[in-house]
Amino acid sequence: MWSTKLFLIFLLQYCVGLPTKTTTTTCKLNNEDDCLDAVMHPDLSPTPNLKAAQNGEDTQEYWLEKSRDFIRQQANQRPNRNIAKNVILFIGDGMGLATLAAARNLIGGEEAFLSFEKFPYIGLSKTYAVDLTVADSACTATAYLCGVKGNEATIGINGNVVQGDCEGMRNTSHHVTSIAKWAMDANKAAGFVTTTRVTHASPAGVYANIAHREWENDAELKEDCGEDTDLADIALQLIHNGVGSKLKVAMGGGRAQFIGANSITPGKRLDGRNLINEYLSGSAGNAYVTTKQELDNLDLDKTERLLGLFQDSHMDYHLDAVANEQNTQPTLAEMTQKAIEFMQKEENGFFLFVEGGKIDIAHHNVLAKIALDETVEFAKAIELARNITSEDDTLIVVSADHSHSFSLAGYQNRGSDIFGLANGIAEDNKRYLALSYANGPSFDTYFDTKASERRRPEDIIQNSAHDVFPATAPFESETHGGEDVPVYASGPWSHLFTGVYEQNAIPHMMAYASCIGEGLKACET
Ligand SMILES: *[C@@H]1O[C@H](CO)[C@@H](O)[C@H](O)[C@H]1NC(C)=O
Ligand SMILES: *[C@@H]1O[C@H](CO)[C@@H](O)[C@H](O)[C@H]1NC(C)=O
Ligand SMILES: [Zn+2]
Repeated sequence: MWSTKLFLIFLLQYCVGLPTKTTTTTCKLNNEDDCLDAVMHPDLSPTPNLKAAQNGEDTQEYWLEKSRDFIRQQANQRPNRNIAKNVILFIGDGMGLATLAAARNLIGGEEAFLSFEKFPYIGLSKTYAVDLTVADSACTATAYLCGVKGNEATIGINGNVVQGDCEGMRNTSHHVTSIAKWAMDANKAAGFVTTTRVTHASPAGVYANIAHREWENDAELKEDCGEDTDLADIALQLIHNGVGSKLKVAMGGGRAQFIGANSITPGKRLDGRNLINEYLSGSAGNAYVTTKQELDNLDLDKTERLLGLFQDSHMDYHLDAVANEQNTQPTLAEMTQKAIEFMQKEENGFFLFVEGGKIDIAHHNVLAKIALDETVEFAKAIELARNITSEDDTLIVVSADHSHSFSLAGYQNRGSDIFGLANGIAEDNKRYLALSYANGPSFDTYFDTKASERRRPEDIIQNSAHDVFPATAPFESETHGGEDVPVYASGPWSHLFTGVYEQNAIPHMMAYASCIGEGLKACET
């Protein structure tokens, strides 16, 4: 009721031209269309905008020159038809377009470009799963790594099997393999780097066939498939299955998935196995590191394979790591650099998967500041990878697995603090933040249920990296979003990645470019 009343007062203010805080439009009562338009597009522009004037954006020449530069760059693009010796796939987990646009604020402003936004070819990937409209990181990993769409929460398994179906998973005719295997079958090296647990949904797509993403250790698997099951959990598959046991590099968090509940630093396993010891006893060349220092000190010439587990669970958010004097974990860029340097020794080249995995986790917790910082860290890793490889022989593809319910809205002034207030006053006479979520755990923080009204957002946002941003519906965890995600490509056959396509086309295009796998190949046409 009150909201309808407020709306009417608001509309009346426009229509009779009373001074409001948000508009200078004067509406005539007899012109309903104009009144409604003024409400839809309030006049919020401050004059003059200092930032725009400094850049020269208040002149035509600025914009004309910018467009000429872009046309020259595009007109000079020549398709690169080399065979890709190396392929690197970067996935920003949960990195939708609103996240990318907002993250530019952290690297200089709206006009800035994240490193991969300068890549020459861009397309859109449709992310839906076989069963659900909005996908998760498990079924999308099957799509962008194995080239087949499956059902939510399943990994390396086709759409015949639904999540949690133990017997369906046992039938290997339902299994699909990843481009990591296709690369190794072609005598290339393969590996991955992530900021999540190495057994988490996205990296598991590289090596696992599992009917539920939560079956990261034997205890979880047995809870669902029975004490006596002989099915293998994700950690076990990483160390021992046909793909996992051949990977050159696996780095991230998730130590606890590999060791027993009775270990000195307690792990999650109940089968009495220590998979790290099993990995180490596999070969004298198998190296295991747990800190950045150990990673730096590693003699790559004496290393056959590299396992890095830098935290018990996920790796810390980058902002928390830099604030922690005791921090020992490497950054995503540092792990990426080591992985590339190691695999560049391979005569036949390599496939590397790199995940910025904590963009997603920060969004689930409505931690927008952290999600954007993780996005910037992700962009640094890509810049580094492009710097130390050549466009002549290395295809780099950058995308997201899915988006989030994250929104950048409300007409801020150019150059404003993206974490601050948007212009204008809402109908409840309170201000509004530029960044918000459709749902999430911050509903009660921002909405006073007793008083049945919003709290003032400026009273809630503090100067903290862990500030939560508002959610419209109360959810324990904020949800993914279902719109397409962008795909950026650079290097051999990167021009294939234009257009709007199903997410599962991505590994087939990468395989085409590097002449691996059983599908179409550039070298055979
Ligand atoms: C395995 O799956 C295939 C395809 O769905 C099916 O034809 C076959 O009967 C299954 N095998 C067993 C042992 O269930
Ligand atoms: C990449 O190379 C450019 C140009 O040499 C340099 O300015 C930049 O710092 C490098 N970036 C990284 C992440 O190494
Ligand atoms: Zn997620």
